[in-house]
Amino acid sequence: MPVDGGEQWRLNALHVLLHERLDSHFAGPVGDVLAQEPGRHRRVLDLCTGTGKWVVDMASIFPNVKFSGIDIVPIAPRTTPRNVHFEIADATQPLRWRDGTMDFVHARNVSLAIAHYPRMLREATRVLRRGGLFFSGEILRQVTFDPECFQGVPALDAPRADNFYRLINRTLALRGLNNYTDRIAEFVHASGQFDAIRRQNYVIPIGEWSSSPNDRRLGARCRDILAVFARNLAPMLKDAAHPDEFIGEIIEGFVDDIGSVRGLVAVYQTVWARRC
Ligand SMILES: C[S@@+](CC[C@H](N)C(=O)[O-])C[C@H]1O[C@@H](n2cnc3c(N)ncnc32)[C@H](O)[C@@H]1O
Repeated sequence: MPVDGGEQWRLNALHVLLHERLDSHFAGPVGDVLAQEPGRHRRVLDLCTGTGKWVVDMASIFPNVKFSGIDIVPIAPRTTPRNVHFEIADATQPLRWRDGTMDFVHARNVSLAIAHYPRMLREATRVLRRGGLFFSGEILRQVTFDPECFQGVPALDAPRADNFYRLINRTLALRGLNNYTDRIAEFVHASGQFDAIRRQNYVIPIGEWSSSPNDRRLGARCRDILAVFARNLAPMLKDAAHPDEFIGEIIEGFVDDIGSVRGLVAVYQTVWARRC
């Protein structure tokens, strides 16, 4: 993805949307693992931190906890609260922290960035203390209809959105980025290092089809964020040698579908687990 104003707007807007949907900046027993202990500073690491919004918001909720955010590019803020530190680092390489230093490792929306998730998870696990918490949150890259009130078939009822996801998943896979968004719990389980693994799906409407005013507001925001997401993928599709006209049709077809098909939802899947 580009590192520009549009992408930063998207990351920040998505951060606010997820906070509204979960009514929290986290899921799982974060309060427990970050509870103060005399003589020990609690520590949190955010992998692929992006604009660092999550870190900065969490740092104000937990002012006595030290937060570190790492990203491969310098898009995190330069001025930070006193309990926050950002640095440039590759989340798939050995991390600089010693074994068992972290109480909580957070990895949100990293599936477009990390090709080999189990490798990143191995390092996350190494730096987590026993009893520490790992959290993942990913938006599934597929067309989904609200399971409560719509029985749509993606290829028939939202064909252009379906085509878009098929194309980007294929193109990302050619770059080694397979779509593992709904396999995180499986990776965590396969590592053999965690217990109490919990997975939960949060549904967010796309567009203004809901009868609830609040869901209509969330849906409008979600639609706008997804439209920016799609348009920001144009350079990647260009790199894959797709003609400009084709890319324009695919992206604008997606934007039309998410603005007009009733019942579409985004699924945000969270997984959290305790290190054993
Ligand atoms: C979609 S953004 C997610 C940002 C943030 N986690 C959030 O939820 O707002 C993915 C981020 O991963 C970063 N990234 C890509 N490859 C990385 C790597 N190997 N190590 C660390 N960060 C990486 C990108 O620069 C980008 O900021």
